[in-house]
Amino acid sequence: MLKGKTVGLRARHDVDLPVLRTELYDDVADSARADSGPWRPITPGSTHPRLVVDDEEDSHVPFSVVLLDDGTLVGTATLWGIDTHHRAAHIGLRLLPSARGKGYGSDAVAVLCHYGFAVRGLQRLQIETLADNHAMLRSAERNGFVREGVLRSSAWVMGEFLDEVVLGLLAPDWTPRTGS
Ligand SMILES: CC(C)(COP(=O)(O)OP(=O)(O)OC[C@H]1O[C@@H](n2cnc3c(N)ncnc32)[C@H](O)[C@@H]1OP(=O)(O)O)[C@@H](O)C(=O)NCCC(=O)NCCS
Repeated sequence: MLKGKTVGLRARHDVDLPVLRTELYDDVADSARADSGPWRPITPGSTHPRLVVDDEEDSHVPFSVVLLDDGTLVGTATLWGIDTHHRAAHIGLRLLPSARGKGYGSDAVAVLCHYGFAVRGLQRLQIETLADNHAMLRSAERNGFVREGVLRSSAWVMGEFLDEVVLGLLAPDWTPRTGS
C-alpha cells in the first residue's frame, strides 16, 4: 500500500465493488461531472473496467483509496494514460460523497504524485478538471500543480458544455512528502 498522511492507496478488492458501484457510479449527475464519457448503468457482478482492475494494463493503474486508521473505503484514485516515452501520465480521483471536504483528496493527490514521480519515474503529471471544480483545483494546487490553460466548452455535462482546466506538475518542481 502507498501511504499518505490520512489515506492509503491499495489494490482494488472484491468487497469494494458494490460500494463503488452504488455510491459512485450509480449517481448520474456526479458521474457526468467526473467521468469523460456518457453515463450508463453498470450491472451488478459486471467486470466493467471502471470496477474490476486489469493487472496486465500497464498504462492505467487504478487504486482504491482507504483510510489509514481503520481501512474504510473512501474512493478511487487512478494514474492513467501512462506514456513511458514522454514519461507523462494523468491523475484521476473520485471520493465517495461522504468522504469529501475532509482533506482526503489533497492527501490522495500527494500519494499519486509519489507513485508517478518516485515509483514510476515520470517527468510530468497532468490533471484535467471542470473549471468550477474548486475542490479538485485546490487539491491539485496544494500539491504544486499549476494551471496551464483552459479548454473552452470541452466537456458535455448534463445538457451544457463546460470549460475544463488543465493543470501540470513537473518532477523537478515536485516536493516529496514523507510518509508515502
Ligand atoms: C475533487 C475531490 C477529489 C477533492 O477531494 P476532497 O477531499 O473533497 O478535497 P479536500 O478536502 O482535500 O479539499 C481540498 C481543498 O479544496 C477545498 N474545498 C473542498 N471542497 C470544496 C468545495 N466544495 N468548494 C470549494 N472548495 C472546496 C478545501 O477547503 C481545500 O482547500 P485548502 O487547501 O485551501 O484548505 C472530491 O471532492 C471528489 O471526489 N469530488 C467528486 C469527484 C470529482 O470531482 N473528481 C475530480 C474529477 S477531475
